[in-house]
This record gives sequence, C-alpha cells and structure tokens, in this order.
Amino acid sequence: MPIVHFLKRWPDGSLSGDEVEGQSGQSVMQAATAAGVDGIVAECGGVLSCATCHVYVTPQWADRLPAPSDDELAMLPFTAVERRDTSRLSCQIILDESLDGLALELPERQY
Ligand code: FES
Repeated sequence: MPIVHFLKRWPDGSLSGDEVEGQSGQSVMQAATAAGVDGIVAECGGVLSCATCHVYVTPQWADRLPAPSDDELAMLPFTAVERRDTSRLSCQIILDESLDGLALELPERQY
C-alpha cells in the first residue's frame, strides 16, 4: 500500500510531518482525511469546488505525477495561499503503487 508523507515547513525551514498509508485507487485527499492529517480540509469532499485540499508536490516528485486535468487547473487559482508551479489539489491525485513514498508539503493554511 502506498505511503504518503504530508510535510509541514517549520520556521527553521525544515520539513517534517505525518506518514500515511493509503490505498491504491484512493485519492491523496481521502488518505489524508481518513488519517486525520491536520492541514487538509477538503470541504467539498473531492468534487473540485473548494481548493482546501491544496498541497505542494516536493521537487523529487514534481515530474512523477500525472498532469492536472483542465478542471483542476481551473480550480487552482482559488487556493488560499500562494499558488506555486508545484501546487496540486490532493483530491485529484489518485494513489497507486508507483506513488509509494510520495512527499507533499502542506500549505500554511487552506482558508
Ligand atoms: S476537496 Fe475540494 S477541491 Fe479537493
């Protein structure tokens, strides 16, 4: 089962956080909310209408995820904090074994 790392950036610049075991076919958002990860709100439940499941993909994973859909790209401008090139909505990243070890940085807030 794929492991996903949800990392918080601390004032000293370091990253650390939760390690969650997901299931193939499940979205990253679903894995996070099932595990109670603090920092993923997912207010809309994954139907692309809230942008409160925002994450930053860490550099080593940035080129290893499928590209965002047009619908996800249309929603990304509505994140609460700075949108970066690596911004994704975690409800749109579907886990499989190829994503085992996926590391994502949590934004400082979702509202
Ligand atoms: S959970 Fe609402 S857009 Fe992802």
